Amino acid sequence: MKIGIDKLGFYTTPYYLDLTDLAQARNVDPNKYLIGIGQSKQAVIPPTQDIVTMGASAAEQILSAEDRNQLSTVIVATESGIDNSKAAAIYVKHLLQLNDFVRTVEMKEACYAGTAAVQAARGLVSLHPDEKVLVIAADVARYGLNTSGEVTQGGGAVAILISAEPHLLAIEDPSISYSQDIMDFWRPLYASEALVDGKYSTNVYIDFFKATWQRYQEKTGRTLDDFAAIAFHLPFTKMGTKALAAVLQDRDDETATRLRSNLTQSQKLNREVGNLYTGSLYLSLISLLTHADFEAEQRIGLFSYGSGAEGEFYAGILQPNYRQYVYGDAIETILADRTKLTVTAYEKMFNEQLGFTKKDTQLDVASDPSKYALAGIKDQQRIYQLKNN
Ligand code: HMG
Repeated sequence: MKIGIDKLGFYTTPYYLDLTDLAQARNVDPNKYLIGIGQSKQAVIPPTQDIVTMGASAAEQILSAEDRNQLSTVIVATESGIDNSKAAAIYVKHLLQLNDFVRTVEMKEACYAGTAAVQAARGLVSLHPDEKVLVIAADVARYGLNTSGEVTQGGGAVAILISAEPHLLAIEDPSISYSQDIMDFWRPLYASEALVDGKYSTNVYIDFFKATWQRYQEKTGRTLDDFAAIAFHLPFTKMGTKALAAVLQDRDDETATRLRSNLTQSQKLNREVGNLYTGSLYLSLISLLTHADFEAEQRIGLFSYGSGAEGEFYAGILQPNYRQYVYGDAIETILADRTKLTVTAYEKMFNEQLGFTKKDTQLDVASDPSKYALAGIKDQQRIYQLKNN
């Protein structure tokens, strides 16, 4: 029985920052951001959007009435949790008006948790092949104004439906996971911005990619020639370029040309949105599948990395008509309809995040065109709203 990704959906906020504007405001050569980091724009998160609202919007893009009936479980993978106890998946399930006989849970291990959720979902579907699992990988990447991580911020959500006989990508065995206790990036419970040892984190990422890829080759006997493309976790697009270069080195044969060219396609959407943490690998997969052309039965590799640190390399086989299940047109529309903010407006929005406030707060949901919004806080409870638009 095949098990894997049946559909992929994506949502980000209606606002973005142009990184040339940010470079000018920070007295940096724009080419450092555009070429050195490989990012053009980044999503800016208004106080009315969070992992719950973005997750609900991404899921709504893909769920049919039949999918809703077959859902056994909703897993939200995130490191931008909105409660230390209650799972964000319960709020998402409520906003999506799913039936009550659904398991709802949250998972965490930095950016890796989206892949942990996908693997857990495979296990659930293998036990109950007539049921489906909805994985939502949603995050807000925040480092702080005027920090070196600022250019690698972003946010959004990817919805991943896992089923038997999937329409999109049948996940293969083996899957190689690798973890070590490493302090490259973390966020203490009292902090709303991440702490990071930036250069070190990029080195650990490459080491974990090489370690998982090496073991994958030993276990399967497969080589780079067996892959149509490899999608990477992309905290910023240059990171994927560096990782692929670490294994290709100076090869310039057909395989190397194919993998480099497909990597460029896989970076296109991430370049416009920034880091989504848990969702970044899966946004890159969407980018790859909407911008490059493949045949059914071709193999795609996926490298997932989460600081702290955990990596996983696995692969999947493309299914016939896979493109119909990636919703490329809807995603292009979401990105094209965004409003560009000035640096001052971005800084104001950045500082307007609710953070850890206990105060009753009412937010201006009318100014946010998204269907799902956070309306505020009342008696220390978050109030979500489904808008009729
Ligand atoms: P930095 O110190 O600002 O940048 O930090 P830099 O000085 O290293 O420059 C970056 C690149 O721009 C360099 O290229 C420069 O040469 C180039 P490289 O040597 O790396 O190829 N450059 C230029 N290029 C063209 N024209 C110019 C120019 N000037 C310089 N004029 C850093 C960059 C990414 C470290 C920082 O932004 C940061 O700390 N970001 C956050 C951490 C991060 O994203 N780490 C990635 C790996 S860890 C990970 O992926 C996990 C994560 O997603 C979290 C999670 O798991 O939850 C982050």
